[in-house]
Amino acid sequence: MCGIVGYVGPRDCTDVLVEALTKLEYRGYDSAGIAVFENGKIEVAKSKGRLSDLVGKMEKEGKPKGHAGIGHTRWATHGEPSDVNSHPHSGRRVTLVHNGIIENYKEIKQFLIENEHTEFLSDTDTEVVAQLLDFYYTGNPIRAIRRVMHEIRGSYALGIVFADRPETVYAVRCESPLIVGQGKGEVFVASDVPAIIKYTKDYYLLEYGEIAVLKNGAVNFCDLHGRMLEKELKTADWDEDSAEKGGYPHFMIKEIHEQPTAVKTTIMPRIENGLPNLSECGITRETLKDINNIFIVACGTAMHAGMVGKYVIEKLARVSVTVDIASEFRYRDPLIGENDLVIIISQSGETADSKAVLSLVKGTGAKTLAVVNVKGSSIAREADMVIYTHAGPEIAVASTKAYMVQLSVMYLLAFEISLAKGKIDEEKCRQLTAQLEQVPEVIDAAINKVVDECQYISTKLITADSLLYIGRGLDYALSMEGSLKLKEISYIHSESYAAGELKHGTISLVEEGMPVIAVATQNTLLEKTVSNIKEVKARGAMTIVICDEKAEIDEEAVDYMIRIPQINETLMPMVATVPMQLLAYYTSVNKGNDVDKPRNLAKSVTVE
Ligand code: G6P
Repeated sequence: MCGIVGYVGPRDCTDVLVEALTKLEYRGYDSAGIAVFENGKIEVAKSKGRLSDLVGKMEKEGKPKGHAGIGHTRWATHGEPSDVNSHPHSGRRVTLVHNGIIENYKEIKQFLIENEHTEFLSDTDTEVVAQLLDFYYTGNPIRAIRRVMHEIRGSYALGIVFADRPETVYAVRCESPLIVGQGKGEVFVASDVPAIIKYTKDYYLLEYGEIAVLKNGAVNFCDLHGRMLEKELKTADWDEDSAEKGGYPHFMIKEIHEQPTAVKTTIMPRIENGLPNLSECGITRETLKDINNIFIVACGTAMHAGMVGKYVIEKLARVSVTVDIASEFRYRDPLIGENDLVIIISQSGETADSKAVLSLVKGTGAKTLAVVNVKGSSIAREADMVIYTHAGPEIAVASTKAYMVQLSVMYLLAFEISLAKGKIDEEKCRQLTAQLEQVPEVIDAAINKVVDECQYISTKLITADSLLYIGRGLDYALSMEGSLKLKEISYIHSESYAAGELKHGTISLVEEGMPVIAVATQNTLLEKTVSNIKEVKARGAMTIVICDEKAEIDEEAVDYMIRIPQINETLMPMVATVPMQLLAYYTSVNKGNDVDKPRNLAKSVTVE
């Protein structure tokens, strides 16, 4: 996955492109490049490495100067990260940047070779598109673009410049996200809103098959058939600060601190007279009443939020919930029935595997519900119903606040389904909802209470080769996310395990000094979890226990106890998440890693 940008306007184009790309580096950061019209000629600068490497290179070798151009930050799919594989890629008269994947690039390459277009410099699928566009270009850019769009298969968003069309940028969307920002006398292209928010909040969302032409500070749109389009101008409700670090050293820690507000903003508009009200999302008790089975499908952290959702929905609403990884679900021919509900959770709303699930469900009669953070994203638009989480932009690759708001939606949904199914009455629901309303405050208190302890305990983790997270019930669901968070950014191997299952194999890994992080917030299971903590302690583990303020745990079994503020046991995952995020964050900081941009990872994975 990559980020693309474009600009046409009075400012220094290179500066704008670089600035916009810094906001998209979360999408990929193994190489970067730009192409700018300088005195009517396209000048390209590109480099392997971070955007800062490109900037360094331009400082030494001179930066292109002009007022129209395109830019790219890359996460390699076809061809290793290298100068030559970096975007932009060019044909004779065409230069372009690409986000996505071209599935039939090999056939097209073969076709071009056979037609004597043999000069391929890179290993990328993108260069093939540039060459194909060049092949069809006879002086009418839109006609050539449309022809190419009919021939290439895959997911893509493109920013394109033609050598004989100076000061003009073309942008195309098929699947991969793309917006066009409209400022005063200037226009922007970007893969995501944060890239342009510094300059304008007004933007157009390109739809599948649409082409934008940016010229003279204005934009025109047409569709795949060349018909002109009128598009609705949208206004982002994010401000510039929300895409900046705001004094924090990393986005991740800023986003951890933003969680109380994010949860409040997500749940408050959906509570009316003390009861959940999801009608603005198209969800009523009537629609939920006859649901048979629920499938929650997602990837990564979002899937872990689904795990918590499963425990809570099954416990309260007594409906069977299956949680699945989207890349498995889509190929396992699942048994989906007419009255089933398929919930897709996704921060970005663009994850390829999660998106594929929507097509799979179509025609089964089941309803689809998207829980998505990015407005207007593909998954949000394609699902039957959508609950937007209001986390604001999440920039750090390791997800924190998006997970937290996904949890809050799982609870609201569980309450609503329970009411619809008659498993709880309004009074009980009011109690639960009131407790959920207290969560933001408790999260805030938890952050303040445990931040120093977590910072200290993390110094004990940095030398570990491997560690275990254990828990039972909701604590197990939660420990999956704790473990993922740690491994994503600290690069220490870790595994989450159902505490009771340890003795069936995994306990053999425990040796002197191995950190074992036990989550023990579920009082009904506390005794059992404590036995498991003792088992690993007896085998030399360094035990770190996350529990509430009052939990009675034999201190001898524990090396470090992280006590968090108490709330209703069912809601404890939202509080217990905090120390796990902080442990991961400080371990990564203490190891000197790039916390916000961990190696090999991308924020949203729009390719399979
Ligand atoms: C990537 C990210 C994860 C995220 C997952 C699903 O792997 O690094 O943080 O949980 O994709 O992304 P989504 O946007 O669908 O929630």
